Amino acid sequence: MPILTVQPSGKTYQAVAGSSILSALLAGGEDIAHKCEGKAECGSCHISVLEGRKSISKIQRAENERLDATVGVGSKSRLACQAMMGEEDVTVEILSV
Ligand code: FES
Repeated sequence: MPILTVQPSGKTYQAVAGSSILSALLAGGEDIAHKCEGKAECGSCHISVLEGRKSISKIQRAENERLDATVGVGSKSRLACQAMMGEEDVTVEILSV
């Protein structure tokens, strides 16, 4: 199982390949906003992917459009509800609002 690490706390969680980073964070008890419940409509689950970007799912149109309208987006930004874990470990920082 891939490991999901959250910075700056350094907490780690076991994730399931094919499931969202948001679900792994919530299962681990992380305080991350998810106002639209994972529909790529609110942008509140904004994260920065620090390591392992290549192993997670590619950005689809709905996520891309939502990120375009989200404040503080950078080249490592993803929506945790839309980014699906792959087989490799991933490190993220939660930027949600
Ligand atoms: S929970 Fe709303 S965009 Fe991810």
